[in-house]
Amino acid sequence: MTVRVVIGAQFGDEAKGKITDYLASDARYVVRTGGGPNAGHSIHLPEGQLVLHQLACGVLRKGCVGVSGPGMVIQPFALENEMQDLERRGLLRGEVVLSDRAHVLLPLHEIEDGWEDDLRARKNPNARLGTTRRGIGPAYADRVARWGIRLTDLSRPALLRERLELLYAKKTQLTGLPPLDELMARLTEVGERLAPFIRPTEPLLWGALERGENLLLEGAQSALLDVDFGTYPYVTSSHPTSAGALVGSGIPPTELDEVIGVAKAYTTRVGEGPFPTEDSGPSGEFLRRVGGERGATTGRERRCGWLDLVLLRYATRLNGITSLAITKVDVLGGLEEVPVCVQYVLPDGSTARDVLPSQAEDLVKAQPVYERLAGWPEFHERTKERVRREGGRALPATLRRYLARIEEEVGVPIELVGYGPARDETVRLEPQGPGRGAPSLEAWSG
Ligand code: IMP
Repeated sequence: MTVRVVIGAQFGDEAKGKITDYLASDARYVVRTGGGPNAGHSIHLPEGQLVLHQLACGVLRKGCVGVSGPGMVIQPFALENEMQDLERRGLLRGEVVLSDRAHVLLPLHEIEDGWEDDLRARKNPNARLGTTRRGIGPAYADRVARWGIRLTDLSRPALLRERLELLYAKKTQLTGLPPLDELMARLTEVGERLAPFIRPTEPLLWGALERGENLLLEGAQSALLDVDFGTYPYVTSSHPTSAGALVGSGIPPTELDEVIGVAKAYTTRVGEGPFPTEDSGPSGEFLRRVGGERGATTGRERRCGWLDLVLLRYATRLNGITSLAITKVDVLGGLEEVPVCVQYVLPDGSTARDVLPSQAEDLVKAQPVYERLAGWPEFHERTKERVRREGGRALPATLRRYLARIEEEVGVPIELVGYGPARDETVRLEPQGPGRGAPSLEAWSG
């Protein structure tokens, strides 16, 4: 039995969906542990591309249970559409389970999210957070302030009405809310349709642990967007860390075996906030164009820059990452050299290698110090074929040096490498040793 958690180790959009889907092949349960419709996990199946927002990717695999866990804030109408869409395409092959403790994200949260971000921007244009406007912050705020409605409440009309009335009485600043009776009716109806999927998930997962079945916790968003340890206030409102995944699933910390941190071979960010290695010039444009860097949920263009090892070391320590999955290495193919940031110089002249200042405005002033590594050739179909056949040793030598340099700098092994969007374009590297075929660092002249 293995309990694994997949964590985004940057600012989101690291291709966690692809890696989770890969790792789900031997999992009995895959559990989404936080976030809600702000997430967009893209998966490229032989049948075509799809984006999961609120369902765990386990729902795509026969014999697997995809749990939308108690740490989530679920928009039930969007969730129902997502299920119907998968069903229509014949892709809903696993089982769907929704935690009765998950909170309900209401239309008023979506309105409130937009209202709040606009208010910030009116006060000060730099204060906008650039949220996904899916209602995440207000839904989590209501949860911790104990105004929330949970999926379990959808089947209790008296309780549901009482809680809705309280919320409507509280949110007097909002306009354009649907009439309460209408919302009440819609929630009751969707609650009835979703009822067969809503159940207590803790006993389900504890039973799986007792039976020794494999569990995979699918983190959404990423470590640098954590509400406490990310670049506050430019963060999401949940804990997208390994600790957060445990809280968001009800799995005890003592059960966790592996923490897989997913990072792109470069860095992207969507929304506002500090991004030390951002490149607003032609290199950033190149990454955006070749990497197809556009948000899977909002369609916004992502900001792009080089790999930041300071962030990666920080995320590794914060999450106890035991191995890394590095994705989209094919995007950098064809570049003569690839810069990576190894440390920052801060305004007071000090350097930072694995800790981040708590003030976002200090991080904005951090100067990245780059090391330039040799690039690798473009990834033609021929190369991909060889990698499929022969494994990691068929990756270009300079790419293997790039990966070895990341391992050396971050201090954890890279076990998976994504070299294309398709399900089979992930390669597992052999453990350290001659089989891995990574050229020694000494041999690299830099
Ligand atoms: P929220 O989660 O919608 O409140 O947005 C807060 C910040 O997190 C914004 O900068 C979003 O762009 C970012 N964010 C939220 N979810 C994701 C995600 O799944 N991928 C990347 N960025 C995200």
